Amino acid sequence: MRTEALTARDAARAAAILRQGGLVGIPTETVYGLGANGLDPDAVGRIFAAKGRPQDNPLILHIPSADWLERYCEDIPPSAYALAERFWPGPLTMILKRRPVVPDAVTAGLDTVGMRCPAHPVCRAILEAADIPVAAPSGNTSGRPSPTTAGHMWEDMEGKIDAIVDGGPCTVGVESTIVDLTCTPPRLLRPGGITLEQLEEALGEVAVDPAVTRPMGAGEKPRAPGMKYRHYAPRAPVTVVAGDPAGSARYILDNAAPEDGIICFDEFASLFPGHYVERLGPSGDKGEQARHIFDALRAFDDTPVKAIWAQCPEAAGMGLAVANRLNKAAGFHIVQAE
Ligand code: TXA
Ligand code: MG
Repeated sequence: MRTEALTARDAARAAAILRQGGLVGIPTETVYGLGANGLDPDAVGRIFAAKGRPQDNPLILHIPSADWLERYCEDIPPSAYALAERFWPGPLTMILKRRPVVPDAVTAGLDTVGMRCPAHPVCRAILEAADIPVAAPSGNTSGRPSPTTAGHMWEDMEGKIDAIVDGGPCTVGVESTIVDLTCTPPRLLRPGGITLEQLEEALGEVAVDPAVTRPMGAGEKPRAPGMKYRHYAPRAPVTVVAGDPAGSARYILDNAAPEDGIICFDEFASLFPGHYVERLGPSGDKGEQARHIFDALRAFDDTPVKAIWAQCPEAAGMGLAVANRLNKAAGFHIVQAE
């Protein structure tokens, strides 16, 4: 299959391919997605094939506005509209009870569905032109870091999908926050572009699913099926070093072999001459760290490094999402700097 390279001006073309059952790489403000017609089980099936995604991992639906919620969901609590009012369009996915019209291929047979209304203008133009809900997981091959540029999507998907729309680098850089509104209190299933603190401000108490901060044991089932899989992982094993930035930098300096790769905050990059170094951003700027985390993890796959050491922000604000992606990339192999 030849993959078409599309630009921001080609929203109508991208929408036409989606309506015909094709697969399109679409920019969103979080990460690039691999879109298909969310009402067409065959098209949705091709997403799983292109990504090598396990069949039991459900997809989320992208819609142009909260007005569309009623079409695909029922028993929608007022909190859903309150969140939509505050955070949509934007990096928030809500888990709601689904209507039968949503194919099992999307929900992996669950009685709930994830709904997201993205903010990226090119994505919005595509959704409006297509006039269908677009099922879209992150556009990476399963297990690899999510794509935050069209180039990353080409690396993983060239020849496997119909088109990729280049909408520039993603401005959030980590996936949407997922909140389950079918339980009380609402539950954070995946930290992302909207912080836990923002959710709490809007909702009051919010439970945090254990899969956010620790690996699932045998027999444990996270509520977001995707959280159980090894994820975001570069080919080389990653060790996350927790602790204050000066301490974690010192720990890495003391323990990294000369040929090891380093992911560090900008201030510490000069400590590691001779290493492959990927900068996350300034230690005080978690938004910048979120924009760089997947790029940094991906970059090591083009190097010979056999092990990667990573500094990690504290888990407040956007730091919870950055730390979650790093910890998952490391298989929760975390050491604490003194
Ligand atoms: O920012 C994003 O959300 C990106 C962009 C493309 O929109 N999409 C994305 O999709 O990250 P994906 O498929 O890579 O991650 C969705 C996660 C998976 O972990 C999946 O298991 C979970 O959402 N999920 C989907 N439907 C669910 C449901 N009904 N209940 C619980 N978890 C669900
Ligand atoms: Mg994903």
